[in-house]
This record gives sequence, C-alpha cells and structure tokens, in this order.
Amino acid sequence: MKETSVRFLLILTSVLRCTINQAGLTVSPSRSQFFELDSVSLSCEENNSSAGWTVWRNTTRGTRTQCGDGWGEPAGSTCKISYIDPWDSGVYWCWSSRKGAASSSIPLTVTGGSVILQSPVLPVMEGDDVTLSCLTKTTPSNLPAAFYKDGSLIRTEPKGHMTLHHVTSSDEGLYRCNISGHGASPSSWISVEEKPSTPDPPTSPPSTTSSPSLCHFPSYLLPLLSKMILVVLLLVLLRRRCFQRKFEGNQDIEEQSITYSNVNE
Ligand SMILES: *[C@@H]1O[C@H](CO)[C@@H](O)[C@H](O)[C@H]1NC(C)=O
Repeated sequence: MKETSVRFLLILTSVLRCTINQAGLTVSPSRSQFFELDSVSLSCEENNSSAGWTVWRNTTRGTRTQCGDGWGEPAGSTCKISYIDPWDSGVYWCWSSRKGAASSSIPLTVTGGSVILQSPVLPVMEGDDVTLSCLTKTTPSNLPAAFYKDGSLIRTEPKGHMTLHHVTSSDEGLYRCNISGHGASPSSWISVEEKPSTPDPPTSPPSTTSSPSLCHFPSYLLPLLSKMILVVLLLVLLRRRCFQRKFEGNQDIEEQSITYSNVNE
C-alpha cells in the first residue's frame, strides 16, 4: 500500500509540474528560413516528456491545421516535412489538447530563390551577440553579402556573416541579405528580449526552443493545491481499501457457487 501511495504522489507531482514545465517547439535545422525541398523536423519538447503534444500551423493554405492533416508526417510529438515548399511558410506551434496549452509560435519562411538569411529562431536576449549568415543553396556559404535592416543597407560583409554585438531593443527589426549574382533572401523579424532581473545561467548559442506562453498557474495557489491533492489522495486510498474488501467478499461468494455447481454435476 505504501509503495502505491508513493507512486501515486509521484504521478500527482508530475501532473502538477504541468503548471511549471511547458513544451517548446524545436526546429531542426535551427533556422527560420528554408530553401524549397529542404527537409525540416519540428519537435515539441517538454522538460521530462513530449507526450501528448502535436505540431500545428497557420499558413495561407489553411489555419490551425495539425501535422498529418494534409502536411507533414507525424511521429510522436515530432513532425517531419520531407520536402518543404514555399506554401509551407507560416507560423508553427505546439498544442496539447490534454493540457489545453500551447507553446509560443515560430514563423518559418520557405523561399523558391537561392539565398536565405540564417537568424535566431527565438527572441534574443538583450546584451547577447547575434550572428546572421547569408547562405546560398549550392555554393559554399562564405560569399560577400549585403545585410539590410528595415529596408536600409547596414553593411557588406566579405564572408557573408554579420555579428551584432551586445544587442539592444534598437536592433529589433526586419532583416534580409543579398548576395550579388545569387539574389536576395526573404526577410525575418529579429526580436530582442529584455534581460530578466534574476541572474541566468550563461546562455549557450541561441537555442531554438520557443518560450512558453500558456499553462501558467498562479504560484500563490500552489500550497493550497498541494493540500487539496493530499486530501484527494487520502480519499482515493480509503476507497481502494473499501473496494478491496468488497472484492475479497465477492471472491468468497464466487468460490462458494463454484463449489456448489461442482457438487451439482
Ligand atoms: C492562426 O489563425 C487563426 C485564424 O486566423 C488565428 O486566430 C490564430 O491566432 C492564428 N495562430 C497563430 C499562432 O498565429
């Protein structure tokens, strides 16, 4: 019995954790622009599991469609698009009907052209260095490229990579690049998030997990909730005891009737 209740508590705490851990959408390869016919993998990941999450999207072809519903091949909480098409441009997010929660959405742009801008998929943190790369489909990705922000040329980089140092909110905007003889990339929005006041562990290269937006639970209610769960747990355990007694009783009766019919034969 003790073991059961411990297991039950573990399950309950993991359910409770829903209110704390949320899923994010991970894009692989980690970019927001793709060439036509690229293969793209979209995964919904939570801290401890990815069960129950599905990938959804809005494109000009349709709003709120699920992976497998005319696009993508679902496999668990991952969605694979083997040959992405300009029509697949749009916003993508993770949704859990079980939890009624969504991740924040990520815009993906697919070009039929031959140049893309590689920029962070997620908002970047104030003070970080951000590197933008201008890539071509076929040639090595270190050709001279011109970078534009909100329509105006910022600068030309001989190797096709531009680093923005210690970004601030003034770096927010719509970026694109151009490689002469190959063409221009689509535009991508780069947003800069204010640094949180609490110290963070050192940030690794821009991760592609979108930050949570839903599944919030007011933290001041947590103590109350845990008390309620304890009461429910006690009730469940009591009920189980009752059922077990009843079941044992029924078994006795069944055994008696079996003996009785045996005698009859
Ligand atoms: C998807 O499209 C619907 C309908 O236009 C809209 O209400 C919803 O906000 C969109 N979702 C995202 C994540 O953009």
